[in-house]
Amino acid sequence: MGGRTPLLVLTFSLAVLSIKLGISHGCRETERKALIDFKRGLHDPSNRLSSWVGEDCCAWEGVGCSNISGHVIKLDLRNDDPGCKWALRGDITPSLPSLQQLNRLDLSGNYFMHKPIPKFLGAFRRLTYLNLSGAGFMGRVPAQLGNLSTLQHLDLSYNCYLSLENSGWISLLTSLRHLNMTWVSFTNAANWLQDLNALPHVQEIELISCDLGTFPRSLSHVNFTSLTTLDLRGNYINSTIPDWLGNIKNLKSLDLSSNSLCGSVPASIGNLSLLQHLSLGSNDLNGTISKGIGQLQSLSMDFCQIGPTPQFPQWLRTQTTLRQLQLSSAGIKDMFFDRLPSSLEYLDLSYNSLHGSLPASLGNLSMLRSLDLGSNNLNGMFPESIKRLKGLRDLDLYNNSLSLSEDDLANLSSLKSLDISYNSIYLNKSDDWIPPFQLNGLYMGFCQILPKPHFPKWLRTQPTLDELYLSNAGIKEAFPNWLPSGLRYLYLSDNKITGEVPQFFPKLKYLYLSNNSFSGNLSPRITNTMPSLQWFDLSMNNMSGEIPFSYCQLRNLEGLQLYENNLSRVIPNCWKTSSNLLLLDLSSNKLVGGVPDSLCNLQMLESLHLSHNNLSGQIPHCLKSCTELATLDLGHNNFIGNIPTWIGESLLYLKTLSLRSNAFTGSIPQLSSLPSLRILDLSNNNLSGTIPQSFGDFNALKSAPTYQCCYFNNDSLYVEDMWLFIKGSELEYTTRQLSMDTLIDLSNNYLSGNIPEELGNLHGLRSLNLSKNYLIGQIPWSIGRMKQLEVLDLSRNNLSGAIPSDLAALNFLNHLNLSYNNLSGRIPNGNQLQTFTDSSIYAGNPNLCGPPLTKNCTLNIAKAGEEEQNEDSSKSRMETLWLYTSITLGFIIGFWAICGSLLLQQTWRTSYFRAIDNMFDKLYVMMVVTVAKYKRKL
Ligand SMILES: *[C@@H]1O[C@H](CO)[C@@H](O)[C@H](O)[C@H]1NC(C)=O
Ligand SMILES: *[C@@H]1O[C@H](CO)[C@@H](O)[C@H](O)[C@H]1NC(C)=O
Ligand SMILES: *[C@@H]1O[C@H](CO)[C@@H](O)[C@H](O)[C@H]1NC(C)=O
Ligand SMILES: *[C@@H]1O[C@H](CO)[C@@H](O)[C@H](O)[C@H]1NC(C)=O
Ligand SMILES: *[C@@H]1O[C@H](CO)[C@@H](O)[C@H](O)[C@H]1NC(C)=O
Ligand SMILES: *[C@@H]1O[C@H](CO)[C@@H](O)[C@H](O)[C@H]1NC(C)=O
Repeated sequence: MGGRTPLLVLTFSLAVLSIKLGISHGCRETERKALIDFKRGLHDPSNRLSSWVGEDCCAWEGVGCSNISGHVIKLDLRNDDPGCKWALRGDITPSLPSLQQLNRLDLSGNYFMHKPIPKFLGAFRRLTYLNLSGAGFMGRVPAQLGNLSTLQHLDLSYNCYLSLENSGWISLLTSLRHLNMTWVSFTNAANWLQDLNALPHVQEIELISCDLGTFPRSLSHVNFTSLTTLDLRGNYINSTIPDWLGNIKNLKSLDLSSNSLCGSVPASIGNLSLLQHLSLGSNDLNGTISKGIGQLQSLSMDFCQIGPTPQFPQWLRTQTTLRQLQLSSAGIKDMFFDRLPSSLEYLDLSYNSLHGSLPASLGNLSMLRSLDLGSNNLNGMFPESIKRLKGLRDLDLYNNSLSLSEDDLANLSSLKSLDISYNSIYLNKSDDWIPPFQLNGLYMGFCQILPKPHFPKWLRTQPTLDELYLSNAGIKEAFPNWLPSGLRYLYLSDNKITGEVPQFFPKLKYLYLSNNSFSGNLSPRITNTMPSLQWFDLSMNNMSGEIPFSYCQLRNLEGLQLYENNLSRVIPNCWKTSSNLLLLDLSSNKLVGGVPDSLCNLQMLESLHLSHNNLSGQIPHCLKSCTELATLDLGHNNFIGNIPTWIGESLLYLKTLSLRSNAFTGSIPQLSSLPSLRILDLSNNNLSGTIPQSFGDFNALKSAPTYQCCYFNNDSLYVEDMWLFIKGSELEYTTRQLSMDTLIDLSNNYLSGNIPEELGNLHGLRSLNLSKNYLIGQIPWSIGRMKQLEVLDLSRNNLSGAIPSDLAALNFLNHLNLSYNNLSGRIPNGNQLQTFTDSSIYAGNPNLCGPPLTKNCTLNIAKAGEEEQNEDSSKSRMETLWLYTSITLGFIIGFWAICGSLLLQQTWRTSYFRAIDNMFDKLYVMMVVTVAKYKRKL
């Protein structure tokens, strides 16, 4: 009893105290107002802030108050989900600094719309934790952050494009323990090293892809001796590795990979006795490391050229604690496996020049659990030495020319994951063979399966199988009914699999069946058989009949791709507000009727493709409520009516709008208020009136396309996301030939009036097609300012006057058509225009003269020349244009929306990087390494 009394007294006095201080229950009014104001500045599509109502703001989601003072001390609104749909978007209102006692602020993973980090964040004098990672900030990092002298954790990583004026303010953050400024450009911060060196307590520094540029040779006194982790990947540092690194005595992890470091590794690194993880990959280091380094646990020298004859360095053998060795893409030819320490558990030798067969010495690495020999030139039979590695769990042999048989696998009893894509396997065991292993993942894409391509029968003995990748393996049989029902990922695209769509996979999340020969009707029982489906791709098959109602009831479904089938009847009218659908692609089927009203219930929908059907009627007004739409593709149908004005008012995230080849009438509404619109295709309709002057105001077309970065969650390159990304877009890009990422096509309508001069403001537009209209007047000279223009088609109008000589300044122009107008005078020459020698692009303009026309400008130009028929060649190009450009699906965003797609589309990439800044270019180079790893699985 006695023990409780002091507590009671304390509680009582606290209560009295709080009454005296006028603390109401929990929350202070000024702070509550500041929070409400903050909320007002945000768009909250997933209603994460729904609890932000009522008086007690301390009870609100993400808000934390001091038990003693009642002040708000914590605001934690981080968005962990790697998707846009959960992100808060908008602006940080200036009232936020009213939360004066705040010590923890976490806004990571939200999307602040390319705004700068507000200066007033420097006013939070008590802040110890500030996390603005992956939050879509852009611009200069305000030096006011230097006022945060109590800050211990600062994370500004993975924003869009942040840069520093200088780094002086960092040296003021004397309490700092953890600093992460990944992707922040340090180009103007030459003194970065001195400024970091002023942080006596700093333990972790992560500056990936920061454009650091140089590594100062000398550092008079190393002050940051608390440093345990230093990550300077991807900075194009072109000096040698400086000696002073060896003075950071506590360093445990050092990553200098993806720079341009040259010379050899200095001996001082050998002084780092605590060093466990060393990563030196992708540099120009030459010479071998002369002596051992500490006692490493992991060493990565991917993309390193190791000595004059690339092989395993001698000293590796002395690294008796080494467990992980990455020597991917190091040019290694010689396989002296006896130089490797027998402690190795993880060995990555992918993308080297190993050829022939593997030596027996590999079999001595008896601790090996993971072995990656992918993308080498190994050939012949399965290596005997691997059969001796009984502890092997992950074996990657993709992209060699090995001939395996089931026999070869018969000893590998620990195997969990096997990748033999791009090899051949002979299924020589009897159908009732029971392998000794229980696989989680099997990857056999592009594999030659002998003697006859089919599903290996032993798969039925693998109940733990989680992931099966058998795309493009030539399989030509009916879908078996005995695949393990626990599968979550099943990739069978690009085969010739027939029969009914598979049944009974209660856990299946991703099902890829595109480009096969599945036929019959879509199963109405899908909610029972595959209730967990998240992504379902059945495109390019022979499915017929109608889309069953049950498809509306798949609660987890985010992507449904049914394009290029023979589906008929109407689109079911059963879509629910609870749906999570992000992408719906029903294009290229035989659907009829209108867009059903219930489709408007899909509040998350970002991408809607209904093109190439027989749909009709007007665009339903309720579609206005699908405010997340980034792609709306209704082309090649029979839609009628006006283009609704609400498109320009409500669909504010729209990037791609295609209404081509319908029967829309009336004039073109105001659309230029759509800040992200980059593809506008209204061609082949019956539109009349003039081209609005406001067309010069499309924000996203005004400058060379900026990368869109909505959210990037750490380096969360989840394999599943990667796959999805690759499957979801590379295929689309190649088969559907996306050629342009910015485009305006108004061709083949009844548009009249002048071409507005304001179009010249669209400096980022790559393709402009206004052909086959009734446009009059001159070609505005301002078109010469559209520097990115690659395609310009103004043919078949009534344009008159001279061709502006400014056109010659369009350096990227590769398709020009001005035929069949009333243009006159000399065809300007010089620069880019000189490359157009095909006179047909000027045909049908009797008053034009000069090369490439044969007509001499000094002659009487009134005589009309022979007119040749010139089929509009841009047409086919536009026909094949596909509209997957808005890769805004939650998981394919941020980095992958930018660099990922660029990796995969060579032509697009080249033109893109022409315009994009240096930093991203470098980043791209760095990421190739990582991507290569995942990409191989195709
Ligand atoms: C404040 O109170 C909550 C709930 O009563 C408790 O969980 C928390 O530990 C307290 N915090 C402090 C700093 O006393
Ligand atoms: C590092 O420490 C030395 C000695 O204590 C001091 O003179 C120097 O100013 C410090 N350097 C920085 C950049 O703070
Ligand atoms: C490093 O890069 C800088 C800037 O690009 C350049 O001026 C310098 O000459 C380079 N140094 C070396 C050793 O290549
Ligand atoms: C490494 O490169 C430097 C300069 O490029 C050169 O002087 C040196 O000989 C090279 N060393 C080896 C072992 O190739
Ligand atoms: C930034 O770096 C810190 C320290 O190295 C790390 O803990 C944190 O996870 C990193 N943040 C992101 C988003 O990767
Ligand atoms: C065209 O004009 C040029 C210069 O005035 C003259 O040299 C040339 O002979 C003329 N060509 C024809 C075909 O009349």
